[in-house]
Amino acid sequence: MTERLTIRRPDDWHLHLRDGAMLRAVLPETARHFARAIIMPNLVPPVVTGADATAYRDRIMAALPEGMQFTPLMTLYLTEQTDPDDVAAAHASGLITAVKLYPAGATTNSQSGVRNLDHVRPVLERMAEIGLPLCIHGEVTDPATDIFDREEAFLNGVLRPLTQEIPDLKITLEHITTHHGIRFVREAEGDVAGTITTHHLMINRNHMLAGGIRPHYYCLPIVKRASHQRALIAAATSGDPRFFLGTDSAPHLDHAKISECGCAGVFSAPNTMSCLAQLFEEYEALDKLEAFTSLNGPARYGLPVNEETITLEKRDTPCNYPAKYHTPDGTLTLFDPTVPLYWHVLD
Ligand code: DOR
Ligand code: ZN
Repeated sequence: MTERLTIRRPDDWHLHLRDGAMLRAVLPETARHFARAIIMPNLVPPVVTGADATAYRDRIMAALPEGMQFTPLMTLYLTEQTDPDDVAAAHASGLITAVKLYPAGATTNSQSGVRNLDHVRPVLERMAEIGLPLCIHGEVTDPATDIFDREEAFLNGVLRPLTQEIPDLKITLEHITTHHGIRFVREAEGDVAGTITTHHLMINRNHMLAGGIRPHYYCLPIVKRASHQRALIAAATSGDPRFFLGTDSAPHLDHAKISECGCAGVFSAPNTMSCLAQLFEEYEALDKLEAFTSLNGPARYGLPVNEETITLEKRDTPCNYPAKYHTPDGTLTLFDPTVPLYWHVLD
């Protein structure tokens, strides 16, 4: 028997589209299933001003194939030089949906990020005043902190004090990877929601490291042990409106991943909806899929839900997403969900 599920068209609340040839290669993969996405600003150089965001948005729209619909929700990359007036103007004009905080050195292209939160306090206070959300990469960068503990250390050392000092600041704790993060969002004193990626729901660190090292599963924050994965699955499938999808689909060319010092990032845009339908079905929560992918995010950001729908169909034959995607600069590997997927998205 074929089963079908029709849900409102999803949005992606955390996406890397890059620029140039890579942008042209990956944008259609997101636009095929998603109506909108929060676009990460960690280009080289980063998207720091309203003028940068306007130019980047124009490049994204120029790269969108004829006939496809997609709305990029732009963000600014917070630096210690960010001007609160520029941020407020970009928000007032409707250009940006959020500001992104990268602790300096936490991840790919985060060198221009924030070293000392005191230096960006005027921007954060202004954002709280005008209701502009802050998206946070929640990891400390202290080299002495074990990489598997960096999220938890950030929650206790940075995020809790911030939510106490500026309780009105709307915060999205992005790509939560631990039960500590889930609990933090549930118990937060401030105004905090969280996104969860597809890959952190589908894999744990054994998939990355047991029986051979799999560089395509290397991402930041790094995947954690299975007990954390279970907490993420429980939160995502619960319907709790504070949790929603941010794929963090972050393409890197294969030669940059398979290297002496490989880049962090998982490219999951094409098969995310098939992965999630399968996972939610496995946890008897298919009725919560729409909340996670299509309802909770817009509610959190004060945006209307999408009027269009997508239909997923469960078939006996597995989906055959290509393992590799081609760009003029090299190939890109699709996230391997470790199991065959049977939920096909009907185009
Ligand atoms: O795995 C990741 N890749 N995590 C990030 O925080 C950044 C991203 C990227 O830009 O490649
Ligand atoms: Zn990211």
